[in-house]
Amino acid sequence: PSLSEILNLHDFESIAKEVMPVKAWAYYSSAADDEITIRENHAAYHRIWFRPRIMRDVTNVDFSSTILGHKTSMPIYITATALGKLGHPDGELILTRAAAQHGIIQMIPTLASCSFDELVDGAQPEQVQFFQLYVNKDRAITKRIVQHAETRGIKALFITVDAPQLGRREKDMRQKFEAEDPAEVSKTGKDNVDRSQGAARAISSFIDPGLKWSDLDWFKSITKMPLILKGVQCWEDALEAYDQGLAGVVLSNHGGRQLDFARSGIEILAECVKHLKEKRGLTFPNEKFQLFVDGGVRRATDVLKAIALGASAVGIGRPFLYAYSAYGPDGVDRALQILHDEFEMNMRLLGAPTIKDVVREMVDASNLSSH
Ligand code: FNR
Repeated sequence: PSLSEILNLHDFESIAKEVMPVKAWAYYSSAADDEITIRENHAAYHRIWFRPRIMRDVTNVDFSSTILGHKTSMPIYITATALGKLGHPDGELILTRAAAQHGIIQMIPTLASCSFDELVDGAQPEQVQFFQLYVNKDRAITKRIVQHAETRGIKALFITVDAPQLGRREKDMRQKFEAEDPAEVSKTGKDNVDRSQGAARAISSFIDPGLKWSDLDWFKSITKMPLILKGVQCWEDALEAYDQGLAGVVLSNHGGRQLDFARSGIEILAECVKHLKEKRGLTFPNEKFQLFVDGGVRRATDVLKAIALGASAVGIGRPFLYAYSAYGPDGVDRALQILHDEFEMNMRLLGAPTIKDVVREMVDASNLSSH
């Protein structure tokens, strides 16, 4: 189908499945074990309903916002996803350019197919980029990566904490992984790895399962970038992150790719907002300690639900991979245009002329377990 026939973000997935190389599809689409969590990620949004307001002059709607103090044209960001070149030879660079064009922020993954410098060099002069960090067992390597990122102008460090070991993604494991470019793989210290268990396992053996809370002092000592933990899954850990003075947390189950039967980010959000208010008097959205959510977000209405519940912004992963795998850069452009149009219409219908007007009272979340 031509791009003009693509009407929503779900459409990219069904087309990508048809046209992508089997290995690439297996890596991008797979999730842990029985893939219950990946299904729940989007399904959980079906439990939240809107309470729209009327007659609020929605002639003009403005869905620009800020993330960690940086401007964004919509309250979304492109989250970190590894191995971007499996879907298209230009890989993550497509996302860097699309982010610039649409005024949104890209989180660069540690395991990008393009080199880190390529993705920074590919950005516009004032373009804001974040960096996702997998912590290496060899802390000297981690220190070098983090300090290089800071030197190159990266504005925030998202430390992935939900992957002490990569989850079992059986769809991916069935496609034995061979690195297309062994040089790429060894650069990040991932050489001599077992390639019989899929792409994910082949590249992840360097990640340190020994990472612990007390390591945060070391991170604070090596960088001035704001620190955010990516992959927090309950209020207790969000509270700990707040008490340790971090800038925020991403409530995420890694797109369902880690612990199967982990809850969806939107459920965790409702729980965190409730308990952080009770325990520390915090209200959300909060400039000093920001809550982000990712997983299963496919519509602007999903994003608006998360914003109403207190998220500062929402991460989107697979839809952009599917969009460029099937249609190249034009696909990502179309995906972002679709989201743009969905924000405009749905904010009008919701009675919210700006993102600040998208408040808690606009959703009925009584079907979530914490509300
Ligand atoms: C990911 N994700 C991820 N997260 C991370 O911290 N480091 C990584 O290297 C990757 N790699 C990765 C690869 C692929 C193919 C996917 C689909 C996901 C997780 C990602 O940042 C995010 O949490 C989810 O993708 C969000 O869910 P959706 O939007 O893909 O449903």
